[in-house]
Amino acid sequence: MMLRLVIIGFGNVGQEFARLLLSKREWLRNSRGLIVEVVAVATRTRGSLLLENGLDLERALQELRSRGTLRGYGPEVTDLPPLELIERCEADIMVELTTLNIESGEPALSHVRTALETGVSVVTANKGPVAYAYDDLKALADAHGVHFRFEGTVLDGAPVFSLVERTLPGCNVLGISGVLNSTSNFVLTEMARGRSMDEAVKEAQRRGFAEADPSLDIDGWDAAAKITALANVLMGARSTPRQVDRTGIRGITNESVKAALAESKKIKLVARAERVGGSVRTVVRPELVEPVSPFWTVDGTSSALTLCTDLMGELTIIEANPSLLQTAYAIFSDMLLVAEAVRRGAS
Ligand SMILES: NC(=O)c1ccc[n+]([C@@H]2O[C@H](COP(=O)([O-])OP(=O)(O)OC[C@H]3O[C@@H](n4cnc5c(N)ncnc54)[C@H](OP(=O)(O)O)[C@@H]3O)[C@@H](O)[C@H]2O)c1
Repeated sequence: MMLRLVIIGFGNVGQEFARLLLSKREWLRNSRGLIVEVVAVATRTRGSLLLENGLDLERALQELRSRGTLRGYGPEVTDLPPLELIERCEADIMVELTTLNIESGEPALSHVRTALETGVSVVTANKGPVAYAYDDLKALADAHGVHFRFEGTVLDGAPVFSLVERTLPGCNVLGISGVLNSTSNFVLTEMARGRSMDEAVKEAQRRGFAEADPSLDIDGWDAAAKITALANVLMGARSTPRQVDRTGIRGITNESVKAALAESKKIKLVARAERVGGSVRTVVRPELVEPVSPFWTVDGTSSALTLCTDLMGELTIIEANPSLLQTAYAIFSDMLLVAEAVRRGAS
């Protein structure tokens, strides 16, 4: 089976996903009978490519490595805007990996909407669309008989949405709590070692896991988008990140981190979703975590999520020190789930 992909947003995650596709090319063909071709990629400032028969991914990556732009690739370079690329390229899956816009989810939301309306399935690690319009997008995907998957939006490649969807049938999620933002967890861990918040943020940027605008991490917006995505998908909330009761870690000092440690506690940025009456309340704030908590050992860039369920009690998933490869794997595994569903003829 041939799978045609268009990748909108070709930065850290997009390029890592491209490298993963290249390294798994044989496995995809031999184990899954899949030939995956990337027929278009779009960036905001580095040019875009459209090749009906699939582009040479190695060459595109090499162009970006050596010249920092795709413009030297050849006559296939285009200035078509992403929405037109999506409509024209006849892809099976649109992979949305543009920068998070916490204000509105745009333009990712429009990219996703256009793809689904055009009959193209969507795989994304961008939290915006799920946090702002999950219900609408799921309904749109169902109406057009295509798929909308977003495992990489929370805990990178660790299964959260797929875990509930595929392995917990009939089990209700009653509450969610998690250490969901790698950057703030890394910053708090480094502050406990004596580094300043500024130094730790710069290190997170240098290592490529901070958001393009790190205030999204430090002020709790990234965690707010993630807990909203989780609450919308797993608890049926119809919420947006703006409705989260949100306090980030900006007010935390080295002294407060040390004072907590002196009492055998750690400060962590914790996100929670819980049912209150008929609605779901979402909160992000620094909390004092004790050694008995499953979050106690979750330091550095690690993340953790606890699902409180009716039939399985509490389940905790810990992702230890993820790298970009784990986010790329989220896209890869979602792509395989879409291919499997297309093969089964399921919508
Ligand atoms: N990095 C991580 O560890 C991680 C983990 C989980 C989820 N995510 C999510 O994954 C997404 C991508 O992250 P990243 O680290 O790859 O970001 P990035 O390195 O900043 O790359 C973003 C890409 O999107 C392009 N882009 C931005 N706005 C665009 C627009 N309007 N039209 C077309 N292209 C546009 C950028 O173009 P230029 O190349 O011209 O700048 C760039 O190629 C984000 O939503 C992020 O929140 C990231």
